[in-house]
Amino acid sequence: MECDSYRLVDAGNGRKLEQFGAFLLDRPCAQAVWKPRLPESEWRRADASFTREGGTGWSFRSAMPQSWPVCIEGFVFELRCTDFGHVGVFPEQVASWRWLASRGRSLGSGAGSVSVLNLFAYSGGATLAAARAGFPVCHLDASPKMCSWASRNAAANGLDGAPIRWICDDVRKFLRREQRRGHTYGGILLDPPSYGRGRRQELFKIDSDLLDLLDLCRSILDPAPRFVFLSCHTPGYTPLTLKHLLSQALAGLEGTIETGEMVLEGQAEVLPVPSGTFGAWGPNKESDHVA
Ligand SMILES: C[S@@+](CC[C@H](N)C(=O)[O-])C[C@H]1O[C@@H](n2cnc3c(N)ncnc32)[C@H](O)[C@@H]1O
Repeated sequence: MECDSYRLVDAGNGRKLEQFGAFLLDRPCAQAVWKPRLPESEWRRADASFTREGGTGWSFRSAMPQSWPVCIEGFVFELRCTDFGHVGVFPEQVASWRWLASRGRSLGSGAGSVSVLNLFAYSGGATLAAARAGFPVCHLDASPKMCSWASRNAAANGLDGAPIRWICDDVRKFLRREQRRGHTYGGILLDPPSYGRGRRQELFKIDSDLLDLLDLCRSILDPAPRFVFLSCHTPGYTPLTLKHLLSQALAGLEGTIETGEMVLEGQAEVLPVPSGTFGAWGPNKESDHVA
């Protein structure tokens, strides 16, 4: 499908201005504490703005369709202005998609025998990247709406025939079930939110539930796993914190942990926006690095 791409245009004063395909969006961004580069007149050109102050919601300057496409890293995504201010893709995850692609390249045809589990999978960015890299994928999200959105994204990318298992369930319920069944995975991706709800409103809070979640993940890893990729948008979950969490959860497995910040990037003159952190574990013999 032909479509326009993503670009970070500016950020500052607690907001970010982003070109998502045909539309320019102005949204909150607490971490952009610096001054914007562009004058206010440029920010006022936004087709839609989202605010959390004095009544949460979108205000539209132009007539926008209910959904529209954007191309990021060779993938097309369906976008929508959701009630939470999300639009259906987190472009800062591009580094994790590149990392998956490099894992796939280094495994070659062997990727086909490494089952990948994508937890909190949302609209499926990492699912598409893993499937395109040749991995069979199990996509897990509690929201039926997000699961169908992700499967539409797979179809739009010609991956409807790829070996993707779509599961709509609470993350810990699913992991306990896989543990009981003795199902294991060679690679796990997880992007836990600060706070979330399972299929039957089960509460997930990163501060109280992440350790248990990581232990469950460890219990369903293959004996010789290929990777675990943990990313996080919660303040306080720094790269070093993720390194400690992964090294404890994966104690006893020979491997290396790379960590860093996820970043939204625009052209050279645009200040990149820190947008979460990642920790990637892989066995020692593999030498791929996060792009
Ligand atoms: C912020 S999104 C993750 C972003 C995604 N990894 C990406 O890069 O596109 C959080 C997702 O977690 C899901 N979620 C929240 N709580 C959950 C739970 N208890 N079990 C399963 N999924 C959950 C939500 O439905 C939502 O799609």
